Amino acid sequence: MKQTIVSPSILAADFADFGGAAALIDSSGAKWLHMDVMDGSFVPNLTFGTPLVHALRDKTKAFFDVHLMIVHPGRFIRDFAEAGADGITFHYEAEGHPQNYLEEIKGLGLKAGISIVPSTPVTVLEETMPFIDIALIMTVNPGFGGQKLIPECLEKVKKLVKMREKAGLSFLISVDGGINEITAPEAKEAGSDILVIGSAFFSSSDKKGFVSRFQS
Ligand code: DX5
Ligand code: ZN
Repeated sequence: MKQTIVSPSILAADFADFGGAAALIDSSGAKWLHMDVMDGSFVPNLTFGTPLVHALRDKTKAFFDVHLMIVHPGRFIRDFAEAGADGITFHYEAEGHPQNYLEEIKGLGLKAGISIVPSTPVTVLEETMPFIDIALIMTVNPGFGGQKLIPECLEKVKKLVKMREKAGLSFLISVDGGINEITAPEAKEAGSDILVIGSAFFSSSDKKGFVSRFQS
């Protein structure tokens, strides 16, 4: 039975109470906590950095699923690892060489992920697939929560499932953006192993029920 991981994104949390957001995630039964790091250059928004990872590290045992939407991931990988990240996912479209970043992240003992924006073909992941633990398929244009899922991006998930099978690999496929009660089953059907959920999670009045419906 394939496991599905729900990874609530604190981008949609109350920015005045991240400690409370971590507690809500823990009490919901979700085991991952997604951190959308934005630098205002790679995406037109600025969120938070390593100080928040460090501040939350001893508040929860959740897996810190750090998503770097930044131009220069290489400058920050070690800092995020030292702050307490468990997994670091950077963007294929960022500057520098993905292979170097993957080796550095794994060398630090963390899960290594690579992400692509909606307009990037999934075939660019072919060469790096053997070195990744997570492939994050953005299902919205990165930068903001609360957007509508782009259905065509789920076709990329289906393609990546086939590529993974053909290569005999077992990395996890994650989707991020516009995942809610309606689109979560569609994303799972397409082959997603991890569901990053921001607005739909934090606006839910029954977070435990929400997570148990999609997490397996
Ligand atoms: C976009 C962010 C969002 C966030 C999830 O850059 O990465 O996708 O995690 O946002 P929702 O679930 O509110 O669409
Ligand atoms: Zn994200």
